[in-house]
Amino acid sequence: MKAIITNKSNSIQDLQLIDDYPIPTLESDEVLVKVMAVALNRADLLQAYGKYPAPKTAKNQDILGLEYSGIITQLGNNVNNFQLGDRIMGLVPCGAYAQYLSTHSDTLIKIPEGMSFREAASIPEAYITAYDALILQSKLKFNQTILISAIGSGVGLAALQLAKLLNGTVIGSSRSIAKLNQVNSFGLDHGLLVTENDFAQEVLRITKNLGCNHIIELVGGNYLAQDIECCAHQGNIVVIGLLAGLNCQINLGRILSNRLNICGTTLRSRPLAEKIQIVKSFNQDIMPFIANAKLKTFIDKTYDFNDTHKALDYLASNQSLGKIVLTLE
Ligand SMILES: NC(=O)c1ccc[n+]([C@@H]2O[C@H](COP(=O)([O-])OP(=O)(O)OC[C@H]3O[C@@H](n4cnc5c(N)ncnc54)[C@H](OP(=O)(O)O)[C@@H]3O)[C@@H](O)[C@H]2O)c1
Repeated sequence: MKAIITNKSNSIQDLQLIDDYPIPTLESDEVLVKVMAVALNRADLLQAYGKYPAPKTAKNQDILGLEYSGIITQLGNNVNNFQLGDRIMGLVPCGAYAQYLSTHSDTLIKIPEGMSFREAASIPEAYITAYDALILQSKLKFNQTILISAIGSGVGLAALQLAKLLNGTVIGSSRSIAKLNQVNSFGLDHGLLVTENDFAQEVLRITKNLGCNHIIELVGGNYLAQDIECCAHQGNIVVIGLLAGLNCQINLGRILSNRLNICGTTLRSRPLAEKIQIVKSFNQDIMPFIANAKLKTFIDKTYDFNDTHKALDYLASNQSLGKIVLTLE
């Protein structure tokens, strides 16, 4: 089968598209999926550079790709919750940039009727990450205030829409005024153009010094220091991404006096049982809103699988709004 594999070099151009990668074999609780579309993620870039290896227990660790949509073409002996030909989407720890992948049948999500493979591939990583952070970990309630960094990112747009579903007031940041203008149509209440990483004062002004109840931190670095300054009393900060850096200097006094909760999270490294549980909750709590288009995906660009290098270059350029998708066939 065709697959994109990493040579762990420092260049996207060194990724290889090969034609003769073996089709994965199945465990009894797995299905074989013919992949129709794949969405890109920052982790793919890191994995390509050799900086974020796939979990040791994963199959086909040299193939990139965390999320996909496709058709079931083979069932393991113990699989009885899906059928041949079912249209499904899901998350994998690696291996989605390929014509076929194998995955546990309890990690599958049925694609709603009328949704294209292209749209479906763009949903799992952004929406499951946002749902896990905002609803399961931060315990968002109705009518609260939420700050989301990189609001025009795939996860940012998903978190924004989830927050609006619970009538939240959302403040979102970006380094691009054009992106903030586009995100307004998703219901953003306040756009923050971040130029000097000093947005805390503006957030406090907007919230009349109350701060935000929930902060979804998608870029890390010095943003976390600002988050701590503008988080509400007993507010929650969930650190999800580190694009702006691994380190920052923070005011510990503010964490104590405001009784803040700060946590970090990743999806990819979780044990299979936890992934199955989160997919189950996601299917119940969120998929109905995606199926009736109350929650939407936004795809910036679609590339043919043969143009994966161009697609990853575009992702690395930080110009994208929402998701970038590769289609196969
Ligand atoms: N922990 C997990 O399980 C998990 C899962 C999924 C994603 N993530 C992380 O969540 C974040 C969002 O992911 P995504 O796929 O939605 O991202 P994305 O669509 O690729 O968007 C990322 C955006 O972050 C902003 N950005 C990039 N470098 C930055 C910097 N140095 N300083 C400030 N802003 C910067 C850019 O937006 P502007 O140009 O508009 O500022 C960029 O477009 C990433 O950090 C990703 O690694 C984590």
